[in-house]
Amino acid sequence: MRKPIKAVLVGAAATALLAPGSINAFAHEDHGRGHQDQRATTLGALGKRAGVRIGTAVDMAALADDPPYRAKAATEFSSVTAENVMKWEVVEPSRGKYDWKAADELVDFARANGQLVRGHTLLWHNQLPAWLTSGDFTPGELRDILRKHITDEARHFKGRIWQWDVVNEAFNEDGTLRDSIWLRALGPGYIADAFRWAHKADPKAKLYINDYNIEGVNAKSTALYDLVADLREQGVPVHGVGIQGHLSVQYNAPHDIAENMKRFDDLGLETAITEADVRIPMPSDSTKQEAQAEGYDVLLRGCLLTPRCTDFTVWGFTDKYSWVPDTFEGEGAANIFDEEYRAKPAYSALREDLMLAAGVKGRR
Ligand code: G3I
Repeated sequence: MRKPIKAVLVGAAATALLAPGSINAFAHEDHGRGHQDQRATTLGALGKRAGVRIGTAVDMAALADDPPYRAKAATEFSSVTAENVMKWEVVEPSRGKYDWKAADELVDFARANGQLVRGHTLLWHNQLPAWLTSGDFTPGELRDILRKHITDEARHFKGRIWQWDVVNEAFNEDGTLRDSIWLRALGPGYIADAFRWAHKADPKAKLYINDYNIEGVNAKSTALYDLVADLREQGVPVHGVGIQGHLSVQYNAPHDIAENMKRFDDLGLETAITEADVRIPMPSDSTKQEAQAEGYDVLLRGCLLTPRCTDFTVWGFTDKYSWVPDTFEGEGAANIFDEEYRAKPAYSALREDLMLAAGVKGRR
């Protein structure tokens, strides 16, 4: 059974959140309302009142072909992330030849719905085009190719991307840097270079490093902490840390997430939960769905308790379109709505947390 959020809000970390006078007039205004503002009941609207954007990754094929999907994506959330269409294999399928069509459609969709856009992702070891992975390039050539790609993509979207996942999944579980085409050719300095090139191309975008299994305090999140602290020392324009939040009901929820996120906040960094989902060993049932709700609840509370946490994004919102079944055999049902867009206990858990937090003004 989930503890009421107040139980979580006890302690120094929560003092700022419940400081005297921080109770938001909205909480009283709302009592005066006889009507329910439908948009005010959406996660995005509640999140804005709590000082955090609530987003979703967007599947562009579903957005084009599935009207209920498009309607929910347009109204429930206040930010969107490109699930796939800003990745290297999609935007630069052949060297120097760009295809921005699908990504531009997402940016236009977001603008039409008053949503901010998280760009995902400028540099990763995965979903790279064949011309790059099978090319026989010298380290110098790879560095030029990487700089050009980051510069061209960040420049193309200049002024239209709120936050970029500049570097995605750079670490191994033990805290060492992941062996990749980039590390082998360019050494650890590729990370700082990527941020400098992205910042030069779009000085206004907030630049994030993003990874999974860094929700709690562990070797991976501590190595990432040490890296971003060092980069900030060097004056590298790293603005935030993206904590993906891919959980499973088979493992304990990261109850030390607020302690972990506070470390980054104390460095002056923004944070975001960037890819939240909680997968279930199938078949799903009500007990597993309650455990799933606990996972989402723990992730969102970690964000709400962290003053500079900017965004809580789910990695897709309906079980109808999820990466999980294709990746984790026998698991699925990871999202907050089911295949028929019916809200699950996880959705209610997010709403409850946001409604409570929305009663507290001045989170930061
Ligand atoms: O576009 C092709 C299509 O032309 C082809 O017919 C089809 C069948 O093979 O494949 C399509 O590409 C798929 C692509 O998604 C677009 O749908 C790839 O096979 C598939 O592997 C790819 O999966 C994506 C996965 O990243 C790749 O690693 C998932 O949708 C996406 O949700 C997932 O997202 C990642 C984040 O970017 C980083 N964090 C982890 C997260 C989950 O893996």
